[in-house]
Amino acid sequence: MSENNMLLEAYKETNYQVTSHGKRNVDILKEALKTIDGQQDSDMYGEGKIIEDFQDKMAAYLGKESAIFFPSGTMAQQIALRIWCDQKGIKKVAYHPLCHLEIHEEDGLKELHQIEPILLADKNTIITLDDVMNLNEEISCLLLELPQREIGGQLPDYETIESISIYCRKKGIKLHLDGARLFEILPYYEKSAVEVCALFDSVYVSFYKGIGGVAGAILAGDKSFTDESKIWKRRHGGDLISLYPYIISGDYYFEQRINKMEQYYEGAKELAALYNQCTDVSTVPIQPVSNMFHVHFQWPKEKVEPILVDIYRESGIGLTGHLREVSEKECYFEVSIGDQYNEVPKDQLNAAFQHLNEKLSGVIK
Ligand SMILES: Cc1ncc(COP(=O)(O)O)c(C=O)c1O
Repeated sequence: MSENNMLLEAYKETNYQVTSHGKRNVDILKEALKTIDGQQDSDMYGEGKIIEDFQDKMAAYLGKESAIFFPSGTMAQQIALRIWCDQKGIKKVAYHPLCHLEIHEEDGLKELHQIEPILLADKNTIITLDDVMNLNEEISCLLLELPQREIGGQLPDYETIESISIYCRKKGIKLHLDGARLFEILPYYEKSAVEVCALFDSVYVSFYKGIGGVAGAILAGDKSFTDESKIWKRRHGGDLISLYPYIISGDYYFEQRINKMEQYYEGAKELAALYNQCTDVSTVPIQPVSNMFHVHFQWPKEKVEPILVDIYRESGIGLTGHLREVSEKECYFEVSIGDQYNEVPKDQLNAAFQHLNEKLSGVIK
């Protein structure tokens, strides 16, 4: 077995796992369907009570005129940017070099829509107002991913988003929010979704990340924008005859977890502090601003893996199933706090971290 598989296997065998809501298995859907009346009509090609009620509910929650349910955020966001580019007649948008569209979508925006992205900011930093003001090309839309997932979920301060929003409105640039993890950042900003979304012309949110549903996304904005997005959804093959398994699970877990975002955020801060007490370990950001962060080891991946496997076997606590290499001397993994963190007995967690630190600082081999 490779080291990486060993880590994953050892992680799966632990009694407690500190991240996420738990296994992504079919029970997620089964639980959501438990209380549903089976005689209800399913949605049909984007119409019907199930989909329309959920869209209305999300439009109200986000403070937008209208909202449309999509099978994926990938589809929803490419469509949003296409609409804004068509409206202005300029096929250029700006976003962060590590945003989802740039690194996880096989160039869908370029290949399907011939939209050229302008990359703003350095890979390891977040977009600032200066980055936007120093743009010397005309763009139709600026996309902000909040939090910026690939750099540990960093966030600009709220005043920065406000000033970027004011600047974009003045310059006729549409502002789109990649809010895959919008719910998860609200406790840090101490703002409502309505307040944050008011700064943006269009907003996407996800129902399988912090919310933990099966899949699915909402795209929200003015009615004229969402009406156009429905046409594009059909063109993209996103108008599945029925989307209710995603909608019902999205709605069910939204109700279960929307008020737990503060708890996840507090858990992330507590856990990050434990990592930061360990030799050669630091989190990005040092103090999390949502339920997620990255853990960096100034050690090679091959050396960290067996240490983690030992800790899991001895403590029964799993910290991660995956390690990624940064360089020959550094590796990292992503943490995202969900329901499972509160289940972990604190004394056992502290003992596991003490053990980890002893191993890393060379007290024990
Ligand atoms: C920041 C961000 N944006 C967009 C997406 C795309 O979402 P989907 O998987 O629904 O296409 C993801 C998914 O991981 C994401 O993390």
